[in-house]
Amino acid sequence: MSVIAVAPAAGSGQRLGAGVPKAFVTIDGVPILVHAVDGLIASGVIDRVLVAVPAGQVEAAQTVLDGRPVEVLVGGADRTASVRRALAALDDVPDGIVVVHDAARPFAPPGLTAAVVETVRAGHGAVVPVLPLADTVKQVDDLGTVQVTVDRSTLRAIQTPQGFDLALLRRAHAVAASAGAAATDDAGLVEALGEPVYTVPGHPSAFKITTAWDRGLAELLVAKGVR
Ligand code: C5P
Repeated sequence: MSVIAVAPAAGSGQRLGAGVPKAFVTIDGVPILVHAVDGLIASGVIDRVLVAVPAGQVEAAQTVLDGRPVEVLVGGADRTASVRRALAALDDVPDGIVVVHDAARPFAPPGLTAAVVETVRAGHGAVVPVLPLADTVKQVDDLGTVQVTVDRSTLRAIQTPQGFDLALLRRAHAVAASAGAAATDDAGLVEALGEPVYTVPGHPSAFKITTAWDRGLAELLVAKGVR
């Protein structure tokens, strides 16, 4: 069964404040998008890669990804819409496995992608990497007052790459689109169908670059040879 990677990379990068779309912000001189795509390819389990970038950035993305077997398309207004556009480009693919990976997670280990795909192959229709929470978690109201301390032992931080049976992910996005719903990850749309989502251990290196601090951390990790 073929494995297709979809990398949503159409974020504006406003919170990063680098003045260019996040996908083009560099770590160690290489755009985040290129790190992410190279990591997916290095897993050795991906047959095809689709990347969704901001409107007007297709050529720029093709240029930085030069030589890599990647299809670049225009993303949507939010992450869910970007993934949906990539799925629409796969309309002629009857079945398979889809790995959705945030381009904003440039150092997700290739072995994590391989583990996610292997778990989908083993029969789980939706698979997400997770990490336990180290901090105490509290629910806070609009005024900043703590309402309740949440039991963190059952909570997990969710990462990408997330793996799916293609038909299941298609159905999840179709239902979300007709309801006008969006989610911060694709597994959330599968959950909304009432279908199970299985977890595998995540990896600290799969952290998402959102702020300038995250970018600085990524640069340090590269400099130290830890990533
Ligand atoms: O905004 P956030 O950091 O949660 O974005 C997660 C991923 O979704 C990033 O890789 C970003 O480029 C992507 N994204 C997208 N289309 C959007 C917004 C975000 O592909 N409209």
